[in-house]
Amino acid sequence: MQIDIHKNKIINIIDNNVRFEDKLQAICDYLEHSIDYYDWVGFYFKNGNKQELKLAQFTGENTEHVIIPFGKGICGQVAVSNENFVVQDVTEQDNYISCGLNVKSEIVIPIFVAGENIGQIDIDSHSISPFTEDDTKLLEFVCLEVAKHIKLPVI
Ligand code: SME
Repeated sequence: MQIDIHKNKIINIIDNNVRFEDKLQAICDYLEHSIDYYDWVGFYFKNGNKQELKLAQFTGENTEHVIIPFGKGICGQVAVSNENFVVQDVTEQDNYISCGLNVKSEIVIPIFVAGENIGQIDIDSHSISPFTEDDTKLLEFVCLEVAKHIKLPVI
């Protein structure tokens, strides 16, 4: 993966003088289009004071999983664990919410603002075991950049 090229592009997107929501959409579009095994890219954020995530910007197929309770699925687990979750094969996960039969793997990285887990970036892939340490590094970078510029509440 050309991680430095992707990081520079993310910085360019963040620096654009557009609405924050448009930056998030541009990040989703860029990642989905430029990394071939990223088939769905989206941001979920904590839904107000509720113990649930709400889907914000995304690129890829529509999903019915707009609201995900904390603890449910890979996303909901990251909301409570505060840890990255890399799933190389979704069939090995019991607590998993399917967003389509084509999805084979998933990576979720939390976003922290002032130490609080306020959301996450979620990537679905149609490939098995596509993710390397570079994906984690790139997506952690994306989350840090988003966190630096975030204007709460996003949703
Ligand atoms: N698979 C996720 C649900 C969200 S979709 O991937 C868009 C999960 O298990 O939390």
